[in-house]
Amino acid sequence: MYICLEGIDGSGKSTQIELLLKWLDNCGIDVLMVFEPTESPAGKLIREMLQNPNATKTNFQNTLALLFAADRIILMDKIEAAEKEGKLVISDRCFYSSMVYQNDGDWISTINKFAKRPDLVLLLDIDPETAISRCEGKDSFEDIDFLIKIRERYLEIADKQGFMVVNAKNGLNKVHDDIKRVVARKLGMCI
Ligand SMILES: Nc1ncnc2c1ncn2[C@@H]1O[C@H](COP(=O)(O)OP(=O)(O)OP(=O)(O)O)[C@@H](O)[C@H]1O
Ligand SMILES: [Mg+2]
Repeated sequence: MYICLEGIDGSGKSTQIELLLKWLDNCGIDVLMVFEPTESPAGKLIREMLQNPNATKTNFQNTLALLFAADRIILMDKIEAAEKEGKLVISDRCFYSSMVYQNDGDWISTINKFAKRPDLVLLLDIDPETAISRCEGKDSFEDIDFLIKIRERYLEIADKQGFMVVNAKNGLNKVHDDIKRVVARKLGMCI
């Protein structure tokens, strides 16, 4: 089973994955946690490029899309191997980040044809103003208009693909409880 958390920068993905991993560990569930971009050479290049002030421009995003697709193909081997061992895979971002950030649906799907689609996607939905205020002092996209567009695309795709949308503006524990409930249902656990 492959579960992914998506959401704009500062929506709380890393924070919630840490809480989720602790809870799954307490439940005795064997988990592999992965994140995109990965630590592969392609992932390192992506991280470097994301520091560029042109990171929101179209040609730049198209270049990133190709690098993300390459980085993701490498990651699929690791995910498939973990699933074969019966592990639950929790991912910080996945294919759908490319669908929203690089925004050319058909082309993104084509270059990502080898990327496995998650069994469950949780979208941490939050307004960009709050997300940015949570990230103060951290390197991140601070272009509010870009983040507003990204949030809209996330919500559109969530509707089409049946993501579970979680209100990420709530406090840590409430968001954690909401995520736990959805994951437990998917895994057939009682909480
Ligand atoms: N529910 C919450 N309430 C208040 N603050 C939160 C909440 N969730 C996360 N934060 C804080 O917001 C900041 C951003 O959270 P986090 O790093 O988890 O976001 P992220 O989605 O992983 O961002 P990025 O995409 O940039 O990695 C952190 O400082 C975190 O402590
Ligand atoms: Mg994070």
